[in-house]
Amino acid sequence: MLVLGIESSCDETAAAVLEDHKVLSGLVASQDVIHSAYGGVVPELAARAHMERIAPLVREAMARAGAGPKDLDAVAVTSGPGLVVCLLVGLSAAKGLAFGAGLPLVGVNHLDGHMSAILADHEQGPPPYPHVGLVVSGGHTSLYLVSAPGEYRLLGQTLDDAAGEAFDKCAKLLGLPYPGGREIEALARTGDENAIPFPRPLMDRPDFNFSFSGLKTAVIKHWNECGRNETEKADVAASFQAAAIEVLVAKTMRAAREHKAAHVVVSGGVAVNEKLRTDFARAGESGEVEVRFPSPALCADNAVMIALAGARLASTGRTNSFDLSPRAAWRL
Ligand code: KG4
Ligand code: ZN
Repeated sequence: MLVLGIESSCDETAAAVLEDHKVLSGLVASQDVIHSAYGGVVPELAARAHMERIAPLVREAMARAGAGPKDLDAVAVTSGPGLVVCLLVGLSAAKGLAFGAGLPLVGVNHLDGHMSAILADHEQGPPPYPHVGLVVSGGHTSLYLVSAPGEYRLLGQTLDDAAGEAFDKCAKLLGLPYPGGREIEALARTGDENAIPFPRPLMDRPDFNFSFSGLKTAVIKHWNECGRNETEKADVAASFQAAAIEVLVAKTMRAAREHKAAHVVVSGGVAVNEKLRTDFARAGESGEVEVRFPSPALCADNAVMIALAGARLASTGRTNSFDLSPRAAWRL
């Protein structure tokens, strides 16, 4: 099955062509430069950039895959959750192409996409079911029990900020550019993660929810009261990162134990973080749980993951009509 995937839910314009689980092309146009001046995503600027980029990007993805519209079996597009003005751009492009070529249109939930990224051509094959899936990104921190392909049960989620949002806010406080995740990670390498005992929010609660706003407040309070030199800055980055990751690892691994899942899949932009990957792998080894991650390029927003989820939906006839609308707060 040859599927074109389109993603435009936030600040990445992306297009990809997949043949079953094989990636024929995958392109992402990042908008980091546009939004960094504002310290966060400005929806109208993001939508305008999507509009400028989407047609050439789709054309290029098709050319690299050596495919024309008539070769495709379906067009998959993120239809939520996300910024409505941004989702509309991807949806319009997908509808135009699908209608013109007489192809089925498939609306994909962005979180389904993140959790499907692990299915991209992988020597290991797909992760066995049931497994526990954690999506940890700039907009989401959600933990699911995945009982079969596309069967998700929400176990817990953040009650306030997403983990990536906490990295971004902490970076902003320390004067680092947006997006802040990789900046914090780089700075943390030179700091002492045991220097400041930041709180581990909701760590001892029996549920699987997360909270990062209290941790952010503790970081702000510490930063306002300390000497603010370069050493302290690196220590704050390292200690914050250690606190955030410890909670993510502990709760996810406990969910795997309690639901008797021998596999955990972690995806989303924050899953690029090397300390997170190492700490998860270590916790998995000691608990006899195998932890898997999509490749870093497929953890952050991309269209390969949308094509993968779209192919699954299309193959079971779950296509959409052309009045498909964006759903800003679509819960999986
Ligand atoms: O999945 P993604 O590209 O977009 C959303 O769906 O939100 O995730 C972006 C988020 C941003 O908050 C960014 O700061 C964070 O992922 N991020 C990281 C790292 N690289 C990106 N967080 C921690 N460590 C990183 N290396
Ligand atoms: Zn995302």
